[in-house]
Amino acid sequence: MVGEDAAFEAIASAIDPASVPRHVAIIMDGNGRWANARGLHRTQGHAAGEPALFDVVHGALALGIEWLTVYTFSTENWARDAYEVDFLMEFNVDLLERRRDELDDLGVRVVFAGDRSDPRIPGAVLDRMRIAEHQTRDNTAMTMVFAFNYGGRAEIVDAVRAIAKAVERDEIDPEQIGHDTIASHLYVPDMPDPDVVIRTSGEHRTSNFLLWESAYSEYVFTEVLWPEFDRMELARCVVEFQGRERRFGGAEDESGLTGVDG
Ligand code: IPE
Ligand code: IPE
Ligand code: MG
Repeated sequence: MVGEDAAFEAIASAIDPASVPRHVAIIMDGNGRWANARGLHRTQGHAAGEPALFDVVHGALALGIEWLTVYTFSTENWARDAYEVDFLMEFNVDLLERRRDELDDLGVRVVFAGDRSDPRIPGAVLDRMRIAEHQTRDNTAMTMVFAFNYGGRAEIVDAVRAIAKAVERDEIDPEQIGHDTIASHLYVPDMPDPDVVIRTSGEHRTSNFLLWESAYSEYVFTEVLWPEFDRMELARCVVEFQGRERRFGGAEDESGLTGVDG
């Protein structure tokens, strides 16, 4: 553990504290392949992803990251076989039950992004979500967003539907609809856009993650399978992010760049 701490410090010392990403979002992928490679069931790969996730939470806090979003279940993951889907639902209940106090003690505010009205989500899962959000609502060390039953297209559809209803009630003038109108109707309205989106397991696609929010995010891809990811890997990804030049549509070396909404 001491060795690991020293290794983390060594990588973290290469990070410029002045430009730590404010919001890191992670597509935690590769659990099934990690398990298959060991002759285990896919679900054991998901279980092996839990210590990886909590090591990353500690690393994110140590680095001063303010927002950490993790993709835990996509709107497309219902297509998996019932055994795996049931496992993931149970696992989420169990994880929130076991880890809620730990997250609270760390000062982490827990929020969920996704479609909660889906009747396929067991009531026990919705209850645990509400309890975790309520218990941690005043925490300020970091906000952790669990993207659960999350789909980027579904999120935009839900926002459009809410805006259409507001137009119908004469609360929004269609001529005044702008980027900010959409952004304020997303699942977590106060969430800043991710500065960096990390995807593990060597896949190079978004898989419907944060479509609106990641318009100008940097993508960092790593071959590491999620159960083998840890705070050291997180720190390496932050170093890679800091080596990028973000332009937001401006020209090279231009100063005073602003975001698309700015
Ligand atoms: C990611 O790991 C976790 C979830 C999608 C819930 P996978 O289960 O997708 O693992 P691979 O991609 O099959 O290896
Ligand atoms: C994305 O991974 C969803 C999560 C990590 C929860 P998937 O494994 O479901 O994505 P695809 O199917 O490879 O695109
Ligand atoms: Mg996958």
